[in-house]
Amino acid sequence: MPSGGQEELRLVNQLIQHRDVKDTVNEYNRAASNYEQEFPVEVLGGPRFATEAVLDLFPDDGAIPRGQLNVLDVAAGTGLVGQRWCVNSENAWSSITIADFWQLYDAGIKNLDALEPSSEMIKIAQSRGIYQRIIEDMIGHHRIDVEDNTYDLVVVAGAFGPGHCPLTALDEMIRVCKPGAARNR
Ligand SMILES: C[S@@+](CC[C@H](N)C(=O)[O-])C[C@H]1O[C@@H](n2cnc3c(N)ncnc32)[C@H](O)[C@@H]1O
Repeated sequence: MPSGGQEELRLVNQLIQHRDVKDTVNEYNRAASNYEQEFPVEVLGGPRFATEAVLDLFPDDGAIPRGQLNVLDVAAGTGLVGQRWCVNSENAWSSITIADFWQLYDAGIKNLDALEPSSEMIKIAQSRGIYQRIIEDMIGHHRIDVEDNTYDLVVVAGAFGPGHCPLTALDEMIRVCKPGAARNR
């Protein structure tokens, strides 16, 4: 359950204090099992803002049906941006209620891949059964295992900050995104 502002602040500070991304990944490996209880989607703005922006860019009745889009969720974490299921207050997997309109999969985006460096976060993301391919890697430090111009859209939430994605991650995100992809609507 949400533990109140102070505890969340303590966890955020813990997650962003590392300058080396490998230490950050270790921290997420430790935090993974409690991540969604500590940062519920009702509190965590990132997944909501990111998905709202994507769904606004590609409306249900837009020129490109959402089902045809190839999307990469960078720094996917436990999968809150894709989010077929979430953990409820009894700490059990449940179908979404409040977050129904904050996620990509049920909005029709089924060709969804993820990139995430924390193996423990990946286990949870994998269990959602919404990602076709999960790439266990970090972005911004080297070339990721994705061809140029692969995706119609690349989305990232809550991952730019100390010890997380460096600005060079943007170059790599642009490389794997089709030219002009987000304008094709
Ligand atoms: C605050 S979580 C956000 C997860 C998810 N996007 C969300 O909104 O719930 C940040 C995530 O970024 C990942 N991360 C940190 N540095 C990264 C990097 N350089 N490349 C890719 N992912 C990274 C972490 O492992 C962690 O899962």
